[in-house]
Amino acid sequence: MPRVGGVVRPPGDKSISHRVLMLAALARGTSELTGLLTGADVKSSARVLRQLGVDVSVIRAGARVQVIGKRLTPHAARLHCGNSGTTARLMLGILAGQKFAATLTGDASLRRRPMRRVTEPLKQMGAEIQEKGDGLPLTIRGGKLRGLTYTSPVASAQVKSALLFAGLTGGVPVTIREPYRSRDHTERLLAHLGLGIHERNGAISYQPSATNIPSFEVSVPGDISSAAFMVAAAVLAEGGELLVENVGVNPTRTGFLAVLERMGAHVDRVNLRDEGGEPVADLVVRPAGLKGTEVSAAEIPTLVDEVPVLAVLASRAVGETVFREVGELRVKESNRLELVAANLRAVGTRAEARGNDLHVEGSDAPPRGRVETASDHRLAMAFAVHGTLAGADVRLSEKRSVAISYPNFFRDLKACFA
Ligand code: S3P
Repeated sequence: MPRVGGVVRPPGDKSISHRVLMLAALARGTSELTGLLTGADVKSSARVLRQLGVDVSVIRAGARVQVIGKRLTPHAARLHCGNSGTTARLMLGILAGQKFAATLTGDASLRRRPMRRVTEPLKQMGAEIQEKGDGLPLTIRGGKLRGLTYTSPVASAQVKSALLFAGLTGGVPVTIREPYRSRDHTERLLAHLGLGIHERNGAISYQPSATNIPSFEVSVPGDISSAAFMVAAAVLAEGGELLVENVGVNPTRTGFLAVLERMGAHVDRVNLRDEGGEPVADLVVRPAGLKGTEVSAAEIPTLVDEVPVLAVLASRAVGETVFREVGELRVKESNRLELVAANLRAVGTRAEARGNDLHVEGSDAPPRGRVETASDHRLAMAFAVHGTLAGADVRLSEKRSVAISYPNFFRDLKACFA
């Protein structure tokens, strides 16, 4: 009988890790970063910043990372963003304010992902962009920008952050509205550094000031999107209790916990504290019986990366779960909408994408079958959790992709059941 127990500590928050590296690169002086994610995506941001002449010390587990900010200069013909959409889109914002041309590219998955959502508003600000279709590679020549007031058609923190970074590096005001509020780590960091950011009636505005970005010290909290896999494994277990330590619980990221609560699993938040402007807690999780629920379009941005693992949880609930308006999942590291549904079916669950909605029917039969991860880290981890159920036989097409956001995923998952 799978019983959980003990303590796990998820790796550093991926979104915050990218942002602190980039802001430290733009700051005057030496910044000290601890708790940074050591996953491949964050290393992609560090690599690109080094290609632009910034000193970033080695990123390895337990190490304090030093970044010496300086004026960016082009040191490489192509900036390689690997698998990381956050690196590509946020760097486009930063490059929009630089007076040189740079070409960005990435791996096959990243080259398929849409970039126009960022390049269109950056062009409105005055950046010159040469692109072939809606994706990488593309060349950006920044320079003298003008201010922008923009209503984004998608609730995307990457779009919002790219535009705020363009305002920051170009020294121009930017106001952004989005259909639903996306994660607000960039806003919190800018406020923490004393830069001119404010919110009014749901619109986020950056107002340039004469001051430079000061160097800073920050400790990055654990990633709730990574913690979600351990939480899910504990909810699905048949006994015991798991402590998940040092998890960022920013309200723009905790939709997963809210939906779990509705499904019947209560997760206690203890030891609440603040780290660099971000709320952090330890999570206490116990197994629970689940019931289906409806996840609304407004909730999706607060749990967008947790849909695969929530769909796995939904497959164990009584009744149907519907995720509304999850079309954005088609343009993540894989077509997550179709692949979550297809993989659930492959292991014996009724699941289907209907239009932009995802429907999952709960069942208590043990999952058995082969899962195609398409090298998508979150699909690999969600279905690895599925494989922890009693009687399960879930075979993953590959496991290496977990290194993108959670290098020690399999070690930690095993430790929960030790
Ligand atoms: C992220 C924003 C989200 C999320 C991604 C990280 C960020 O993407 O899926 O994993 O760090 O800003 P979108 O902005 O495309 O929604």
